[in-house]
Amino acid sequence: MTDLTRELEVLGPDDVHVFFFHTSQIAGDPLVRACEALLTDEEKARRARYIFDKNKLEYLATRTLARTTLSRYARVAPEAWRFTPNQYGRPEISGPDGAPRLRFNLSNTVKLVACAVSLDRDVGIDVEDSTRSGETVAIADRFFSDQETKELRALPASRQHRRFFEYWTLKEAYIKARGMGLALPLDGFSFLLGREDRDPRDGRGPRVGIAIDPKLEDDAATWEFEQFSPDADHFAAVAVRKRGGAGARVTIRRVDLSVDRGAVSASASAWASASAPGGSPGAG
Ligand SMILES: CC(C)(COP(=O)(O)OP(=O)(O)OC[C@H]1O[C@@H](n2cnc3c(N)ncnc32)[C@H](O)[C@@H]1OP(=O)(O)O)[C@@H](O)C(=O)NCCC(=O)NCCS
Repeated sequence: MTDLTRELEVLGPDDVHVFFFHTSQIAGDPLVRACEALLTDEEKARRARYIFDKNKLEYLATRTLARTTLSRYARVAPEAWRFTPNQYGRPEISGPDGAPRLRFNLSNTVKLVACAVSLDRDVGIDVEDSTRSGETVAIADRFFSDQETKELRALPASRQHRRFFEYWTLKEAYIKARGMGLALPLDGFSFLLGREDRDPRDGRGPRVGIAIDPKLEDDAATWEFEQFSPDADHFAAVAVRKRGGAGARVTIRRVDLSVDRGAVSASASAWASASAPGGSPGAG
């Protein structure tokens, strides 16, 4: 059973905490069984419907990450959380009664899953496996804004792959933070990358800007974005809505799963505070 007397972690109003782990961690009977025990009957049924084992594992990993992450901040057992999707499919917390106003967003790939959590702030996260095959610039023509496609095409071929995934993850993180997914037109907003100016807070990377078409009814100035590479194969981006002009403090941690008296234990160690993709991870 989960220890509900443990110390809770603090999530301040300006904090966004990001957690990730590699799905390959869920191996061996005791851990697999402990993770399965966190799922509701409905989740177990959904997992069973996946044909391939790799997708079953991805689903189990995502549920495990979401539930153990939320339980860091509330005296709620990981298996007790209940979720209801909004009209666009984004899960939000719907139980148990009295749970704090946590917001979270999930992203999963076959090899890696990630979860961003905040206190009552719009937040979205996207992770992509950059090793998968596909004609990147051709895809950009279909999904990116004209400005983004133009900037991408103007780059030397050697830089296009990385830039493509930067755009992709940022665009997905934004539409996920809005909670609307592909109901938002992907060419209705443009990311402004590669600018020379540095973030005055700590100079850790080029600032990411966004321009939003008025028809999307959103204020570009209220958003900020972080990018990071959980490993050499994956790109990730986080979108956070500022509150009252206050910027967000994004911290990233890698989760290590183990089994403790039959229950999942999810310890987390510091990754980087936030670094541009390709940047080296910080010490833990
Ligand atoms: C569903 C969508 C919100 C994200 O899809 P995705 O990038 O394939 O998947 P991710 O792993 O990043 O995110 C999936 C998770 O996001 C959450 N999610 C679902 N709908 C969401 C929504 N409307 N808003 C925010 N999050 C949502 C869910 O938790 C989901 O995981 P779950 O079903 O296991 O609970 C949507 O943007 C989509 O279908 N994208 C397809 C990719 C694409 O064509 N992109 C165009 C190029 S930029």
